[in-house]
Amino acid sequence: MAHAAISAAEADRILAAAVLDDEARQDPLDAYRRLHEGSPRWTSASGATVVAGYHDCLDVLRRPKWGRAEADMELPTGLFRPRSPMEQNSRAMLLMNPPDHTRIRALVSRAFTPNRVEALRPRIEMLLHPLLDAAEERGQIELMEELAVPFPVAVISELLGVPLDETGRFAGLVRDTTATIDAAADEAALRRAEAAIGELVGYFLGLIEEKRSMPDEALLSALIEVEQEGDRLSIEELVANTLLLYAAGFETTSNLIGNGMWALLRNSDQMDLLRAEPELMGSAVTEILRYDSPVQLNVRTALETDELFGAIVGRGHQAIVLQGAANHDPEVYQNPARFDVTRFVDSKCPQPLSFGFGIHYCLGAHLARAEGEVVFSTLLERFSRIELAGPPPRYRSSFTLRGCERIELSLQV
Ligand code: HEM
Repeated sequence: MAHAAISAAEADRILAAAVLDDEARQDPLDAYRRLHEGSPRWTSASGATVVAGYHDCLDVLRRPKWGRAEADMELPTGLFRPRSPMEQNSRAMLLMNPPDHTRIRALVSRAFTPNRVEALRPRIEMLLHPLLDAAEERGQIELMEELAVPFPVAVISELLGVPLDETGRFAGLVRDTTATIDAAADEAALRRAEAAIGELVGYFLGLIEEKRSMPDEALLSALIEVEQEGDRLSIEELVANTLLLYAAGFETTSNLIGNGMWALLRNSDQMDLLRAEPELMGSAVTEILRYDSPVQLNVRTALETDELFGAIVGRGHQAIVLQGAANHDPEVYQNPARFDVTRFVDSKCPQPLSFGFGIHYCLGAHLARAEGEVVFSTLLERFSRIELAGPPPRYRSSFTLRGCERIELSLQV
């Protein structure tokens, strides 16, 4: 059936509501359906190109002439703020373009390998169980605060070799830093982010000094040591990329856990199926990432003049990549609004764009999947019934990083 196209102004309104309106944000699937049917690609009033279709998103993310905004660029203002100077000066690979990005990513990848993550898997399980012991006794848990938030912080700390008793104060500080990548963050949130970054930088400078004199087997010592063709990470690069591992790996993984549990609760037939067939876990975690992606949106900026979907655009032109919408493109995913834990079993359907694509493809994807698999397997193994005990969860005010505020569960052994 052909659908009437909607105007760019209407598409802007649909997206702005999904980002800014507290009610619309609770369920963006209707907005995504309307965009796919009426306006999968448009030029917004700010001048940016917005793409919702899977193949268009992929096209933008893999373009070599597109990357992070650079300091000299004049960027459009509007819904998606240009990055602050603080971020532009950062030595974190996520915010860099080649050749700097290539160099730093290569060095960090030498230390942060899939083998290191696999070796960590038994420790990941051991870190999870104590978080569930008290919940088991009470027969209930507030999933976000008691598990989804502390667990990924504990895992990244274990990976890096940050003493676990330090990590309690990190959760709040790291959460504050994520305002810098949140399209809806206000000035107060951005100020809190700057203060938190200052405190964390100070802490890591001290810890790096300690690790230099007393190296261990963990990732931070490996990053200090890592060397490629005589090249090493500078102290600024070490601190910025250590912080990045926390910032990029913590709230995203919390929201994989929360969004996944909420999807399983709303689709209890799928929870039963996963319980009966635990070998579906790999596919189920991919489906969670597709269905309710912890990262909904990504931005790319033209680094030089380029042709984009038939138009010539100049340096500084922005493309807003709605990766959460791409994951619901009906031309790629049959019946996209259905949550189906078998969708990725022997499936030819492409991987969701939740971890991005191209040169910035998530470095922690393997770790995030391992954490998701361990959490859902353990919950289903330890509890014969898991039910919503409180009101339906509400999504937090951030749209880019999508996740629930609270999820009250009752648990039966
Ligand atoms: C479900 C959990 C996660 C999701 C959905 C996620 C998503 C993403 C996405 C979309 C990007 C690309 C951003 C862009 O293209 O601009 C990214 C990059 C990155 N992620 Fe993740 N991430 C997750 C967990 C993790 C974890 C656990 C770590 C590490 C501990 C991590 C570390 C990174 C790093 C270092 C980058 C930057 C890579 C680069 O710029 O080359 N992420 N992630």
